[in-house]
Amino acid sequence: MDGHAEYIVSLVDVDKFFGSNHVIRKFNLNVRQGEFLTLLGPSGCGKTTILRMIAGFEDSTSGMIKVQGERVEDKEAFERDVNTVFQSYALFPHMTVFDNIAYGLSVKKVPKSEIRERVKEMLELVQLMGFEGRKPDMMSGGQKQRVAIARALINRPKVLLLDEPLGALDLKLRKQMQIELKRLQKKLNITFVYVTHDQEEAMTMSDRIAVLNGGVLEQLDTPDQVYKFPKTKFVADFIGESNLFDGTLEVISDETARVAGDAGEMMIECCPVEPGEELTVCVRPEVMKYSKTPVDGFTLSGIIKNMIFVGSQYRTLIVMDNGYEVKVNRVKPDKDVKEGDRVFLYWDLDDAVAICDRK
Ligand SMILES: Nc1ncnc2c1ncn2[C@@H]1O[C@H](COP(=O)(O)OP(=O)(O)OP(=O)(O)O)[C@@H](O)[C@H]1O
Ligand SMILES: [Mg+2]
Repeated sequence: MDGHAEYIVSLVDVDKFFGSNHVIRKFNLNVRQGEFLTLLGPSGCGKTTILRMIAGFEDSTSGMIKVQGERVEDKEAFERDVNTVFQSYALFPHMTVFDNIAYGLSVKKVPKSEIRERVKEMLELVQLMGFEGRKPDMMSGGQKQRVAIARALINRPKVLLLDEPLGALDLKLRKQMQIELKRLQKKLNITFVYVTHDQEEAMTMSDRIAVLNGGVLEQLDTPDQVYKFPKTKFVADFIGESNLFDGTLEVISDETARVAGDAGEMMIECCPVEPGEELTVCVRPEVMKYSKTPVDGFTLSGIIKNMIFVGSQYRTLIVMDNGYEVKVNRVKPDKDVKEGDRVFLYWDLDDAVAICDRK
């Protein structure tokens, strides 16, 4: 046992090259026992590669990977106490549901009576009782996916790795399976490392989210923290919507700071940079305010380009003089203004987040 033993999976300074392509960069991640941790990021950012390195299907170029406190780089995939569910269900088409789920135990020569017992338990868990005699091609996508999950869970792995397991499902089934999977994970107390590029799915299901960009870990936090306090411009943009204003910190007084933005003056709460340093101010569309007259401390302004109703909310687009488009979302329409009006932007100071990653 060592200092990392409280973590069930650890990656320490992991790098991965495919030829000269540096796809994972000094990656550090500690997964806690029993947590639902999601790797989230755009296509090609390295999510699948990280999962495959943990599972043992891909070697890391350098760094350390531990499962339950033990280094696994030299262990074969089947020697690691992890199981994987891929996006394509990869069920055996010629086998029944029963035999598909039983497969992992059959190859280990577990006694038949115990296999029957455990398959039954799994069928109940994924709510597919009565389906044991069916072949996969006679089932829906969601049902097949549940068979794939049962087949992985029957081995009782400490860690289950899931690579976009709901990717092939339609929206309604996907939402249903999100809730089911989360329920299963909590009930069985199995650690999930889950991959998706769908930020809403990540927000709904995860205890913590690791946001990746180009093989780099940008932020690791709870969904709530990632949304409220994005650490980088990439995270602010990728998780939800945001309005980003680049600027330089001018002065700090007791509780507030003034920022000279490229597009005008603005105010924020005290922030971690020094006067003269660059920063980006992030304001979410739902807390962005505007008025027909200037507000103290702010000189950002623009013209209302359009106001549209998108079903759940009213969206206003304001084009600033430098061409930047500011998004405003409201539950109710604003009747005081119309398209073409000039408005002045402002916000409650505690609604703005200072991001200090300007490079
Ligand atoms: N076997 C391979 N050989 C060479 N390059 C690879 C290989 N597998 C992945 N890559 C490259 O590594 C990078 C990361 O790929 P990866 O599959 O991990 O991305 P991802 O985040 O899972 O993307 P997606 O959301 O599209 O599945 C990409 O640039 C990809 O082209
Ligand atoms: Mg992938």
